[in-house]
Amino acid sequence: MFDGVHSITETNSIQWPKRVEYGFGATDELAAFVESESVDRALVVTDADIAAAGVVDPVEAALDAGGATVEIFDGVMPEPKLSMVEDAAATLRDGEFDLVVGVGGGSSMDTAKLASALAVHDVPVRDTVGMGNVPGAGLPLALLPTTAGTGSEVTHIGVFSDADDGGNKVVVYDEHLFADLALVDPALTESLPAGVAAATGMDALTHAVEAYVTMLRTPYTDVLARDAVERIGDNLRAAVHQGAGNDGARYEMSFAAMIAGQAFVNSGLGAVHALTYPLGVEYGVGHGLANAVLLPHVMEYNVPAEPERFAEIARLLGEERAPGETTLDLAYKSVEAVRELNEDVGIPNQIRDLGDVDTEEFGRFADVCFEYSEHNIDRNPRDLDRGDVIEIFENAY
Ligand SMILES: [Fe+2]
Repeated sequence: MFDGVHSITETNSIQWPKRVEYGFGATDELAAFVESESVDRALVVTDADIAAAGVVDPVEAALDAGGATVEIFDGVMPEPKLSMVEDAAATLRDGEFDLVVGVGGGSSMDTAKLASALAVHDVPVRDTVGMGNVPGAGLPLALLPTTAGTGSEVTHIGVFSDADDGGNKVVVYDEHLFADLALVDPALTESLPAGVAAATGMDALTHAVEAYVTMLRTPYTDVLARDAVERIGDNLRAAVHQGAGNDGARYEMSFAAMIAGQAFVNSGLGAVHALTYPLGVEYGVGHGLANAVLLPHVMEYNVPAEPERFAEIARLLGEERAPGETTLDLAYKSVEAVRELNEDVGIPNQIRDLGDVDTEEFGRFADVCFEYSEHNIDRNPRDLDRGDVIEIFENAY
């Protein structure tokens, strides 16, 4: 991480969407975009709950103001299936749309990303799984997050479930999935239920913490990750408990989730995102919630490998070094700070509180982590073998 030159343009260093706008009212920028790109027909890709809650209305209004005809595809489900991406792509082709607008959490934005590419390149969706397998640029793509969490609006990553492979998660990474326009408008997070705000906010914190300690971090991603940790520590509680009544906290959370996304897309993640895999796929625990529960346990495991870094995370979360305490002591306070944050936003700190999870399964869970998420384990700052993974699950239970 300290060797080599970190270009801000080369692949696997700093990568960005073509354009990012953020702040209250960013949604309105769609009108000018539609005009400048001469868009005729825009398809909004979202889920039925978001559409029913009226969150899509200002998006539709902005597209309309720019002169586009708008249709809504609201068939996105959590853990979107690859087949559903194909459905969205077919809708785009059949309707001769010339703009895709993903509105929602990670599921809707990820679906919009890959559907935009498949609308132009009609290849089997499974052929795009993995790194760099999308044949080329897709339809113009705008992404608008309605949670402050995944950071999907600024990444080139899509996470899907593969029904033909037992519902396993598959990931598509490709530079062609970067948005042409990412609009991060905290106004769209106004109607987030508290539980969703908490879980997605903890996902963002996980991105920031993992980006800050991952083996692939760079000085550039450090800046983003560190700042995101601090903003989330300062604002998540208020964003969860005051929601629509606290514009400042929602602004800070939207901004923090975005920069945490920009950090991890350039640095990779770590063991939290590996260990959540079996909980999500086999027990249906939501991504943010699973990350939140496992984060302090993985941090505790990682502290001895990077005490300085975890001490810095502790400071960013408001902890101080008492007289006589060592750097390591302060580093462990980062774990306590995250536990307290979980408690304060209504998230448990143990797996057993998520429901019935069979502890006899932890060995197999570990195998699943290595099979499907080894890249995240490889980037973790402390080496892990199968026994270590089992031990973390046991401590987290
Ligand atoms: Fe995540």
